[in-house]
Amino acid sequence: MGRIADDKIEEIRDRSDIVEVVSSYLPLKRSGSNHQGLCPFHQEKSPSFNVNSARQIFHCFGCGVGGNVFSFLMRMEGLSFPDAVRQLGEKVGIEVEEEAVSPTEVLRREERERLLRINEVAGAFYHQVLLEDDSGVSGRRYLRQRGYEGETVRAFQLGFAPEDRGVLEKHLAEKKFSSDAVGKSGLVRPGKQGRSHYELFRNRLLFPIHDLQGRIVAFGGRVLDDSLPKYINSPETVVYHKGQTLYGLYQARDAIRHNGEALVVEGYFDVLALHRAGFSAAVATCGTALTADHARLLKRYADKVLLIFDEDAAGRKATFRAMDALLPVGLAVNVVAMPAGEDPDSLLKAEGEVGFRSCLDAARPVLEVFIEDQLRINDQSVEGRARSAEQILERIRRLPGDLERSLYLQRLADLTSLDLGLLKSKVSGGSIAQPRMRRSAEQSPPLRRLSTETGQTQKYLLRLMLMDDQQRHRVREEGTGGLFVDELFRGLADYLLGCEDEDGRLPDVLVDASLDESQQSLLASLVFLESQGWADNPEKIFTDCRRAASNYLLKQRLKEVGRLEEEAQRNNDEAALMQFLRERMEINQELKKKL
Ligand code: GTP
Ligand code: MN
Repeated sequence: MGRIADDKIEEIRDRSDIVEVVSSYLPLKRSGSNHQGLCPFHQEKSPSFNVNSARQIFHCFGCGVGGNVFSFLMRMEGLSFPDAVRQLGEKVGIEVEEEAVSPTEVLRREERERLLRINEVAGAFYHQVLLEDDSGVSGRRYLRQRGYEGETVRAFQLGFAPEDRGVLEKHLAEKKFSSDAVGKSGLVRPGKQGRSHYELFRNRLLFPIHDLQGRIVAFGGRVLDDSLPKYINSPETVVYHKGQTLYGLYQARDAIRHNGEALVVEGYFDVLALHRAGFSAAVATCGTALTADHARLLKRYADKVLLIFDEDAAGRKATFRAMDALLPVGLAVNVVAMPAGEDPDSLLKAEGEVGFRSCLDAARPVLEVFIEDQLRINDQSVEGRARSAEQILERIRRLPGDLERSLYLQRLADLTSLDLGLLKSKVSGGSIAQPRMRRSAEQSPPLRRLSTETGQTQKYLLRLMLMDDQQRHRVREEGTGGLFVDELFRGLADYLLGCEDEDGRLPDVLVDASLDESQQSLLASLVFLESQGWADNPEKIFTDCRRAASNYLLKQRLKEVGRLEEEAQRNNDEAALMQFLRERMEINQELKKKL
């Protein structure tokens, strides 16, 4: 990537004023040497958002975010760093030319620009067809039937792709786009064996998918009848990655920020229906499972996510997958249950705003729903309950708040009649809440603490996760908590699980800016790890990791029991002392068994 020269960045920072920039988004009041206002990044009633003019920084004491004028713009506008620099540069009249942009980078950028232009022109074309062209009659009729007119249609720039062949192709050619460039957008595709080109969307209602700057990066298109496929979508391109894009986020962003709450739904039409009914904080994935990238995107604007998926097996699966992506970034997650067979669109239609509101009000924490679900699908045998408990503990561990964790542990103990102390010890093997946010080295226990063999085995399991989709899925099923004792390793394992696309495969390029340095080096080291005979035996690796993890937790608990015994002795609490001595004996037996 072409770097912007450092002195240029400084010049722009010097020339601009953070107080002025922030003031254009929210009112600030002077307070001593600072300016204060209501934080735009979380919901609050009294101002804890501070801007310091002398240092040109901001910080929120409520939610902990802070940084310089660039980080403010990045957060506020969802910009990358270079884009934030460029945008501010434009405002203060400093043009950013970059040094040492490689020729490939130039080409890549030109291609991006061209694709965005093509989408823009195509979007405007389709929109105009829907609004007023003769060839858009059926699209207009369809939308009117479903009750959509005027404002919603414009806010989402809906369009219609006419039946006739070649209209878009002709329009784009008139605008002087080469057929090669148009081909890259996926909107017009070369026909097989020299036959004429064909358009991706014909006789379909179109939903443009916007990026955070409101540029169209792709389209989804729905048929007007019952034919299949119901939807088709633009292919992934250099400007469109569905795993990183949320439909409607551009339109919903302010509403989400305002209440700190996002509604995540399944379909394009659900987003429209909610928006029309005044629930403007709704977004949908573009026909994929919710990824860790989606979660981080939402976390920029929200503290809480309400999941509204279908009440069927697929919807349930999607809900829990979403949970696994959302909890680790520190978002609270609630599940909104809908009457069977309804989606937000149909429910709003049937029962109106009030009916929908009552569903929202009945939303329950996702973990509660998950616990119920686990206890239902696993039987009541010892193994069944243990299996449920493992799965549930795995999620409890990801909760950001101590208090919440402990409440759920209590609940779990009640429901499974497992010993609360044991459950606690299993969870306190280290919190992995927000594994991707961890930056400072001291938060990860040093590797030295692990015996080299244990460390090595865990490394092999990670390597297995990298190389073998099936084994990685097995790790997901089992839960990382029961396999990895070290936080650094477990964090990376969770990260890898979060990287999977909806087909359950890993992308080629894995390292991203959210990984801290030690995680990056560990990941790199795995790629270069030599295989050594037994190390390629997955069964052995799993068994060894499981044993290491459970031994580690048991030993931790043993230490704690030691402390508790001393305490009980000091307090002359005989009953407690007996209980801890018994626990110590049990743990020791357990440890012996495993050797
Ligand atoms: P309506 O039936 O018109 O209300 O649309 P919907 O959005 O409610 O559709 P549905 O609940 O069937 O599907 C939810 C989402 O899954 C859609 O918005 C699409 O993103 C995606 N989807 C549904 N069907 C298909 C399909 O055939 N192909 C693809 N690629 N995605 C689909
Ligand atoms: Mn629907």
